[in-house]
Order: sequence, then structure tokens, then C-alpha cells
Amino acid sequence: MFKRKVELHQKEPFSGIDNARQYAKSAEKSNMRYRAFLKNLQSLGIEGRYLEIGAGPGVLTTEIACTHSAVEITAVELSQDMATVGIEYVSKNGLEDRIKFVVGNAEDEALINSLGKFNLVYCTYTLHHWNDPEKAIANLTHVIEDDGILYLYDLRRVWWLYWVPIRNGFFNSIRAAYIESELRLMLESLEIKHFEIRKEFPFMHSIFIRK
Ligand SMILES: C[S@@+](CC[C@H](N)C(=O)[O-])C[C@H]1O[C@@H](n2cnc3c(N)ncnc32)[C@H](O)[C@@H]1O
Repeated sequence: MFKRKVELHQKEPFSGIDNARQYAKSAEKSNMRYRAFLKNLQSLGIEGRYLEIGAGPGVLTTEIACTHSAVEITAVELSQDMATVGIEYVSKNGLEDRIKFVVGNAEDEALINSLGKFNLVYCTYTLHHWNDPEKAIANLTHVIEDDGILYLYDLRRVWWLYWVPIRNGFFNSIRAAYIESELRLMLESLEIKHFEIRKEFPFMHSIFIRK
């Protein structure tokens, strides 16, 4: 009988300066990691204020600021070490005027509300780490402008990975990620009516949420 292997909220080394620097290096090297996300972002054509959640060491944040010269980004990150590396990275790229790091939790309603309203709120590879995803999504939906978008980009728990015996962090993340029906239940429980879930090759999905 098929048995699902899901390691929910698996612990990954997001703390520790060396781990954060290591993460930044691997993010810089990977061509595929953000490709579909960046293409979709381009198509959305949104400018103005962006809020990034779980920004890690700021590699994607920096790339977005470089390619979208009219945006300002607030980057929220739970891990102080990731944020420290992120602040260094942003400064090295001369973008400290347009990218502001805030150490905090997407599930902290008061913090998220204190940041103001945003034309675009997004996060990559972070949704499956949230302890209370409904709370985080409710918080983030609240701070999008009326015509804004919340764009969640994450791994997708594809069935064929259950047959891969590798147990490293990346494969565990895929096993911890949501499938479309779980996301639908989550969004419906929040009474979110305007959303689209799009599969991205090979094991990601894009979730676009509008007010
Ligand atoms: C897999 S990393 C992704 C980093 C970056 N978004 C990227 O795509 O390279 C997930 C990040 O989300 C952060 N994170 C996890 N839960 C969070 C939360 N509740 N609020 C804010 N950040 C969170 C972690 O500390 C980590 O840096």
C-alpha cells in the first residue's frame, strides 16, 4: 500500500552565518530556482511597493530590484543570520535605498500590518515552512492594495519523488510541500475567492491571490 512520506516543517539550517552564506552561494549559482517565478513576475507588470516574505539572504530580492528599477522592496525574514547576510548582500550591490530588511515572522499580524500596503506581496520556497499558513496568508492578503497581488511560489509535493531514496534537505522540502487540493482547502477556509494555482515544471507551483 502506498504510504505518503511528508516531513512537515522540517528543520533546515536557516540560522548560523555560515549556513546563510552557503545558502546565498547556492541561490546565486542556480539558474532554474527562480526562472518561472521571474518570468511570471515580469508578466504581472506590477510596480511600486513590494513585500517579500522569507527573503533569505536577499539574492532574489537583489535580482528583482536590479531588473525592476521602479520598485521598492521590504524584505521580511525570520532568521537574524539570513537577514544579516541579506543586508550585506544588498549593500554590496548598492541597493540599500530600495531594499529594507525586517527581521520578523509572516504569522505576526501586528508586524505585517505595521509595514503598510503593497502592490505586490510575494514569497519563494517559504510557504511550506510556515507553522500556521492560514494565519500568514490572511496577514499577507490584508496588506495588498485593492488591485494588488499576493504571489506565493513554492515547491509542489509530486508523487514521483516518493520513490527517490535521497533524504537531503531539498528532497525533504519537496516532501513537506503542499499539493493543489490542500492549497485549495486552505484558501477556501480563508474565504479567498479570487485565486489561481498554476503548476510550474518540474515540481513547483505559482499561487496568485487577489482581493
Ligand atoms: C527556503 S528559504 C527561501 C529563501 C528565499 N525566499 C529564496 O527563495 O531563496 C526559506 C526562508 O524563509 C524564512 N522563513 C520561514 N518561515 C518564515 C516566517 N514565518 N516568516 C518569515 N520568514 C520565514 C526562513 O528563515 C528562510 O530564510
